[in-house]
Amino acid sequence: MISLAVNETIARAVEVLRENDHGDYTIPTKGLYPFQWNWDSCLTALGLAHYDEARAWTEIETLFAHQWPDGMVPHIVFHVLNDSYFPGPEVWRTNRPTATSGITQPAVAGFAVRRLFDRAKDKKLAAERARALLPKIDAWHRWFYENRDPRGEGLVAIIHPWESGRDNSIDWDDAFERVPTEGVEAYTRRDTLHADPAHRPTKAQYDRYLWLLQHFRALGWDNAKLHDASPFQIVDPGFNAILIRSAADLADLAETLGEMEIAKANRARAEKGLLAMERLWSDAHGQYLCLDRVIGKLVDSASVGGILPVFSAIPKPRIAAIAATIERIAGKARYIVPSHDLDDPRFDAKRYWRGPVWLVVNYMIADGLAASGHTQVAQRITRSSVDLIAESGFAEYYDPLSGEPLGGGRFTWTAAMVIEFLKSER
Ligand code: GLC
Repeated sequence: MISLAVNETIARAVEVLRENDHGDYTIPTKGLYPFQWNWDSCLTALGLAHYDEARAWTEIETLFAHQWPDGMVPHIVFHVLNDSYFPGPEVWRTNRPTATSGITQPAVAGFAVRRLFDRAKDKKLAAERARALLPKIDAWHRWFYENRDPRGEGLVAIIHPWESGRDNSIDWDDAFERVPTEGVEAYTRRDTLHADPAHRPTKAQYDRYLWLLQHFRALGWDNAKLHDASPFQIVDPGFNAILIRSAADLADLAETLGEMEIAKANRARAEKGLLAMERLWSDAHGQYLCLDRVIGKLVDSASVGGILPVFSAIPKPRIAAIAATIERIAGKARYIVPSHDLDDPRFDAKRYWRGPVWLVVNYMIADGLAASGHTQVAQRITRSSVDLIAESGFAEYYDPLSGEPLGGGRFTWTAAMVIEFLKSER
């Protein structure tokens, strides 16, 4: 029996999705993020599919319509003019037919497309739409390993914190010491007009975000140059795990659709990546850590980026160790999974990616744990997520201690994940 409350919550989530739907793409939320974001769209498509499968495919197709000729899929597509967000197209100056940013975001498309396909009621439609997306996603994956793993180590680096999707994580603090701020053009932030400044990145961080942007812009957004020219090169375990999972999922899907070349290439990427992940493991923390590629050292910072690898096919003992780590954290936080370990003095319950809970991250962690038989921990994460919605609505992120809603409200991917959690709980 599906309870009335569940149906009501799903209906409210659908309302949020519809409100932020611009026809062939969704925006994350009004005001704060008025354009299309890369990984938001891919995860949102899963929510859209619950009431309109064709619309779900369109969401991802629109994103890939703005793929760069070199294969990169940008993190923002500026479909319309809107000055409520900074930095806008006039700062990026990427010189694309439709303005986009010049950096990328976690490659969750391969995973999303496979899930849409597997669940599709309309298999004919799904096969058609998936077949057209396959080579594009494959090109994006190839782009990653060619441009962000130039020495063929099996793991890709991000060159800007915004690429990770975890914008102001504690993981970047040490490497940010190396990023200068001289020459940053004068700017006015807009995010702090829409959300409490105490919940957002600091000015010192923003200056560095912009320094990197200007540096890459001065190099003409030429991806053949950017990686080696960046003072910020971080191998993020969560980012890599998402790419590895997407490569494996794309390989499976390509096999089903008879695209054997694409299947083979992606299988190889996933296998090489999984082996290379071992380098990032920390026994002391019971999770993976980021690697600072510039200095060749692990970053001593236990963030959710090192827990996310359960989303990929890492070795079973690693998954068990991470499940135990989550249980330890659950002993201290009312809601899990916080974006940073509470034992770290740098943990901040309210500031964006330095402590708060994000439902998209919960979704991927719970998915990986459930698939590998850690059902109880997975259910605990799902419960936390559903409780947060019931108590605090569809927020951008939540305080893991109090459950307070933080950042933007009426958030699209949060709503999409709620539909996912509630439907899978039944
Ligand atoms: C913030 C988040 C990022 C997300 C974007 C749009 O920048 O850190 O992960 O994609 O907002 O929601």
